[in-house]
Amino acid sequence: MTVVGCRVSGGGLGVDLKRVLAEVLREYRLPLRGDHGVVHWARVLENGLRLAGETGASEVVVSLFAVLHDSRRLNEHHDPGHGPRAAAFAKQLRGRVYDVSDEEQELLVVACAGHTSERWHADITVQTCWDADRLDLLRVGITPDPARLCTAAARKPDVLRWACERAEAGYEPEVLRGLVCLPEAGFPN
Ligand SMILES: [Fe+2]
Repeated sequence: MTVVGCRVSGGGLGVDLKRVLAEVLREYRLPLRGDHGVVHWARVLENGLRLAGETGASEVVVSLFAVLHDSRRLNEHHDPGHGPRAAAFAKQLRGRVYDVSDEEQELLVVACAGHTSERWHADITVQTCWDADRLDLLRVGITPDPARLCTAAARKPDVLRWACERAEAGYEPEVLRGLVCLPEAGFPN
């Protein structure tokens, strides 16, 4: 989990996920523990980093995708514009809240924009982002269909089982404690 803390590149902003998350949550109005809230984002983060270890995806892009892809949702149900809004938000944040290379930013924007409307992309980092999200579908009662996963890493039975058990149980990754102050489970928001 090398990118959860701070990655400083070239003396610039780098990526501090805690800072990115704080900026995201300034305008996030849905429940933190909701179907598309921070607990989901944390599982997507850990799913993505686990997959990236096998796929070779950019861990920085996977990590930013985790905290940004659902950050501009207006509701927990049908919101087809939330991916493109997340992509636009990422463009606003780059250079102000985090910085990555042009290539990393382009992959992040593509991954956010298409994460619900697209099934497959040629780039392995985009594939890994989308699989990290889809591996968490059982939180809303949907069993991930291996045929709809992009990477061989995500289709492995042990990975599917691991992610699905966590999704179904509403598992709250330890990494959350270092990223955001959450109310006790059972309390609103
Ligand atoms: Fe998601």
